[in-house]
Amino acid sequence: MAETILVTGATGYIGSHTCVCLLKAGWRVVAVDNLSNSSMRTVDRIQTLCRQKLPFHLIDVRDESALMRLLSQENISAAIHFAGLKSVSESISKPLDYYDNNVNGSITLLKVLHQHGVRKFVFSSSATVYGEPKHVPISENASLSATNPYGRSKLFIEQIVNDLSEADAEWRIATLRYFNPAGAHESGLLGEDPRGQPNNLMPYIAQVAVGKLPHLSVFGNDYPTSDGTGVRDYIHVMDLAQGHLSALSRLYSRSGSFTVNLGTGQGVTVLQAVAAFEKACGASIPITVAPRRAGDIASCYASANKAEELLNWKAEKTLLQMVNDHWRWQKQNPNGY
Ligand code: NAD
Ligand code: UD1
Repeated sequence: MAETILVTGATGYIGSHTCVCLLKAGWRVVAVDNLSNSSMRTVDRIQTLCRQKLPFHLIDVRDESALMRLLSQENISAAIHFAGLKSVSESISKPLDYYDNNVNGSITLLKVLHQHGVRKFVFSSSATVYGEPKHVPISENASLSATNPYGRSKLFIEQIVNDLSEADAEWRIATLRYFNPAGAHESGLLGEDPRGQPNNLMPYIAQVAVGKLPHLSVFGNDYPTSDGTGVRDYIHVMDLAQGHLSALSRLYSRSGSFTVNLGTGQGVTVLQAVAAFEKACGASIPITVAPRRAGDIASCYASANKAEELLNWKAEKTLLQMVNDHWRWQKQNPNGY
């Protein structure tokens, strides 16, 4: 009998791709989301891709009694916790919403899991916890800091799960620090569907390519990087999803908790990302150079060694595959789901 995994934030960008990988690998999935930043259509598409039913529950992870009911009905043995709010700019204007959703949501979920004897937990953290890195590539033991409420909410939750695993060795917790997820499922059925104007580079370029936005503003071309534009570690969302399966397998096979980066280890500039996307869509992407965005750093990419050693996982897909898949999703779904 397959183990049952609770996936929160299951209809979101990373959650939906991870559900597909889990179902295809034979895990049973119970999906939870409050649909605050996603659509029920995602459930249909996951079911189409996997040719099986995905049990979905419209639950807010801050709703303790709804979670208690769910956990009493389902024989869950681990949770992957994607649910949360993720916009840096929105977190600055609505800090209480971010702390409530991200920190309180995580605490409520952990308490309910604890009461039901579930001790395996995978947490979505972010490279944002490294703040302004002193060195690149960034390894997991680099110093941590945050410059905005979103980043602080991730740091707080990291500390909470560390305290929990120190207090009770039964807990097995994987803290996964994602670098910059991009791309989409190769079918074009699943992808990132930002509400309103995108903040992040790849969805922004995709909307310029499809004609929804007139041009990309390149935020600064005077950084100390190879072409002056910001360097990031873009990781294909399907590689990222597979990283969760590797982390989960380790939690089932060995005791202990761990923190790992999920990135490719490769830095890509804004202009390189634009050039790759132009290749994928066969058209030029108009750009204008704009001032640096407040809070941005010059260069951020992972040391991917620990993930490879600990999880036997590494990102496999190239930048071109990433932008090809992203473009297919955008072309097939110009208005999202
Ligand atoms: P997303 O917004 O697409 O998915 C998050 C999902 O959680 C959404 O479907 C939303 O409706 C749901 N949700 C939010 N609050 C909830 C609540 N209180 N109860 C139940 N559901 C709730 O975001 P994503 O890109 O898939 O990110 C998933 C996780 O990974 C988040 O925790 C995010 O902070 C983290 N992360 C994302 C990135 C990125 O660039 N996408 C980078 C690093 C870390
Ligand atoms: C942003 C968040 C970070 C979060 C990450 C992944 C900020 C300040 N940081 O980081 O906390 O973890 O997303 O969700 O929002 N760029 C442009 N033009 C654009 C958009 C982006 O030039 O329209 C540039 C940026 O300056 C940066 C690169 O593209 O150099 C990537 O930007 P983005 O996709 O927003 O990711 P991060 O800056 O890494």
